[in-house]
Amino acid sequence: MNFRKNITLFLSLFFLLGTGGTFAQSNSPISIIPKPQHLTSQNGQFTLNADTKIHVPAKNEELKSIADKLAQSIKTATGVQPQVVLKDPKKKAKNVIQLSLTTTPDTLGKEGYTLEVTPDQIILAANQPNGLFIGTQSIKQLLPPQSTKAPVIIPAVRIADKPRYEWRGMHLDVTRHFMPVEFVKQYIDYLAMHKLNTFHWHLTDDQGWRIEIKKHPKLTEIGAWRDSTLIGHYWDLPQTYDDKRHGGFYTQEQVKEVVKYAQERYITVVPEIEMPGHALAALATYPELACTAGPFKVEGKWGIFNDIFCAGNEQTFAFLEDVLVEVIALFPSEYIHIGGDEAPKTRWKECPKCQKRIAEEGLKDEHELQSYFVQRMEKFLNSKGRQIIGWDEILEGGLAPNATVMSWRGEKGGIEAAKQNHYVVMTPGNYVYFDHYQGDRALEPVTIHGANPLSRVYSYNPTPAELSKEEQKYILGAQANVWTEYIPNTKHVEYMAFPRISALSEVLWTPLHLKDWEDFKTRMQQQYQRYDAMGINYAKSAFQVKQQLQVVPERKAAKVTFTTDAAGTDMYYTLDGSEPTANSQKYTGPFELTKAAVIKAGSFKGGQLVGQATTKVFDAHKAFNRKVTLAKEPHRSFSPGTAALVNGIHGTTDHYDGHWLGYLKDDLEAVIDLEQVHSVSKISSSYVQHIGYRVFLPTQVEYAVSEDGKNFKTVKVISNTGKEEGIMRKTVAAEFPATKARYVKVTARNVGIAPAQYPVGGRETWLLVDELSVE
Ligand code: ACM
Ligand code: ZN
Repeated sequence: MNFRKNITLFLSLFFLLGTGGTFAQSNSPISIIPKPQHLTSQNGQFTLNADTKIHVPAKNEELKSIADKLAQSIKTATGVQPQVVLKDPKKKAKNVIQLSLTTTPDTLGKEGYTLEVTPDQIILAANQPNGLFIGTQSIKQLLPPQSTKAPVIIPAVRIADKPRYEWRGMHLDVTRHFMPVEFVKQYIDYLAMHKLNTFHWHLTDDQGWRIEIKKHPKLTEIGAWRDSTLIGHYWDLPQTYDDKRHGGFYTQEQVKEVVKYAQERYITVVPEIEMPGHALAALATYPELACTAGPFKVEGKWGIFNDIFCAGNEQTFAFLEDVLVEVIALFPSEYIHIGGDEAPKTRWKECPKCQKRIAEEGLKDEHELQSYFVQRMEKFLNSKGRQIIGWDEILEGGLAPNATVMSWRGEKGGIEAAKQNHYVVMTPGNYVYFDHYQGDRALEPVTIHGANPLSRVYSYNPTPAELSKEEQKYILGAQANVWTEYIPNTKHVEYMAFPRISALSEVLWTPLHLKDWEDFKTRMQQQYQRYDAMGINYAKSAFQVKQQLQVVPERKAAKVTFTTDAAGTDMYYTLDGSEPTANSQKYTGPFELTKAAVIKAGSFKGGQLVGQATTKVFDAHKAFNRKVTLAKEPHRSFSPGTAALVNGIHGTTDHYDGHWLGYLKDDLEAVIDLEQVHSVSKISSSYVQHIGYRVFLPTQVEYAVSEDGKNFKTVKVISNTGKEEGIMRKTVAAEFPATKARYVKVTARNVGIAPAQYPVGGRETWLLVDELSVE
C-alpha cells in the first residue's frame, strides 16, 4: 500500500465514523436570524440525503403547499429535493421531516412553532399554518449557508419560538421609482425569509400612480408616467433633470398575483393610496379634483407640493371612494393605508370650496378640515369592514375614531396615539428609514439624509418606556420604510434593505432580553453567506471601519479607536493616506497619534478588503489645542465648544456630526492665541453648505494677525462669489509672506437672509465653521 492509498483509507474511515456512513457537509454553529425565543442544542445530528422525505398530514393542501416550498428550498441548498408524502406523523419514521398542526402546546399563537431535530426526524409543529411556514424558515437556516451537495448534516436542536410583535413590516415605495412585479414578489420572499408578515405597498404619490383602476383608466394612462426625473440630490443646486420618460403600473391581474403570492407566504399586503397630499399624479389626470384649475404634471422632482386634493369638492370623495372600492376588492388586508402625511394647507386656505366646507362643518381650521377628510374616508372604509392606518399627521386636527397611526416623525405621534388608546405601528425615521445612510457618507451612494447604520437599527425598541403597560399594548409593532427617491432600481433597493432587514427582523421577533448585538454580529457571518448564495446585492457598509478620534490635549495627540458593525474580520490601516492592505499595520486596540496623519482603515476577511476603506484626517497644525475666544456665543444647536475648532479633526458634510460650531444670522469672529509669537504663513478655516437646511458658506472670510492681541493687521480678505450651491465642505485658505504673530483672528460673514431664489429664501441662515488651522 502506498502512502496515497493510506491517506484515502484513513479519510474514508474518518468520514464513516464521523457521519454515520456518508460524507456530509457540516454546518457551522446554529445561526438563526431572528434569534428564536428558546433554542437548545442537543446531541447528535440529522443527515439530510437523497432519501429524506417530508411528511404532511393527508387532506391538507395548505400544509402540502408549505412542504412543497420547503422541498424546493432544500433542493436549492443541497441539490436534492425531498419527496413530499401525505402521511400522518409517525414516531418511528426515520429520515423524515414531519410537518403537523398541534394543540400541544397551545400557546404558540398564530405564528409560533416548535422544531425538534433528532438523528431520525425533524419535527416541525405549530398551532396554525402561519407558524409552520415561519418554522420552515428556521429549517432553511439550519442548512449550510452556501449551496452544497447532499448529504448535509443538520445539528440536533430543540426550538420553541414565537414573535414579539404582530406587525412586522417592510414598506416599498414604487412611485418615485417603479419596481417591476417580479421584484415585488422577490421582495415578499425577502420578507418571508426574515419572518416578517406585512408588506406596505406605497402605490400612489406625486411622481406616479401605480395601480390600475378600471373605472378611471386615465389614472394609469396619464398618472403613471412622468417626463423627466431630478438628477442627483435635491440640494445639489442648481437642480438638473434627465429627459427620460419614467413610469409603469401594476394591472389588477398583477396585483392579484402579488396578493396571492404574499398570502402563500403568510404576508399581508397593505396598500397605500395617498390622500389628501402627495396627489399630483392623480391631479395631473383629474385637475378638477384640486383647489385651483391646474394644469398639473406628474412630478419629476421630490418633496412636498402645495397642490393636493380639494376637501371642499364632493367629486374628490366620489373619486377616492371609486378607487377604494376597487382597492378593497383586490386587497383582503384589514388595514388600508390612506397616507395623510405632508399635506400643506396653502391651497385650502385660499380655496372658496374648502373654506365653505370649514364653515358648514363648524371646523376650526385647515387641520380640522384634514381630520374631516380622513374621518370621512374612515367611515367609508369602516362601512366596508376595513380599518384605516395613516401617517402621524392624521393626529393633527383630531384622530379619526378607529384610526391606527404609523409614527414616522420619531415616536411622538405613536406615543400620543397610544395614550389616546389607538393602535400604533412605529416607523421612526431615525431608526428604521432604510432610505437613510447606513455608512460613511463619503463612501455611500447618495441618500435623502440621516444615518441609520446596522447597529442603530438593531438598537431600536418599538415599545416606548414612557407608555404604561396598558398603553404599550397599543403598539402593534414596527416596520422599515424604503422610499425610493434616491433608489432608482431593484439592485439598489437590495443595497438599502440588506443587511438592515436582518436587524429589523430581530427587533420585531426576538424577545427584548435575548437581543444581543455581539451575538447578532456573530450570527450575521452566516447570514452574509446566505445573501451571497442568493445573489443579493447587500451593502458592505457594516464592514466599514468607524474611526473615532479623541484629542489628548496634554500630549498634543489623538487617541484613535476603530469599531465596525461586522464580526469575524481584521482591521488594517495606514497613516499616509494610502490604501490599506492585509500587509498594512494591523489594528489591535486604540492607539495614539502625535503627528498629522491621514488614516485609512479597512476590514479584511481572508486577506481581502471587504467593502471600502474609511478615511479620517488628524490635522496637527500650529493652532492645535490652543485657546480660542469667540466674539459671540454660538447658537446652542451648534455648540460643540471652542476646543472643537482646533482639535485637528474635521467636520464632515453631515452638518449634524457634532463637529460644527455655528451661528444663525450672526457672523463668526474668533481669535486664536498661539501662546507665543510664531512665524505664520498660512491660515485656513472650513465651512459646510447644505442650502436645504439654510446652511450657507460665508460671503467673506477675513484673516488678521497680531503680536499683542490688540493691534490686528489684515493679511487676507477672501470673498465668496456665491456660485457654489451644492452640499459641500469647503476650506478657505490664505497663504501670505511669513508674518510674526501670536494671535490670529478669523472673521466670516454669514449670508444672513437666504436669497429669494431658494425654497428657503427670506429665512435666516446658518454659518457653520469647523477647523481653524494655522501654519
Ligand atoms: C413619510 O416619510 N413622508 C411618511
Ligand atoms: Zn379646495
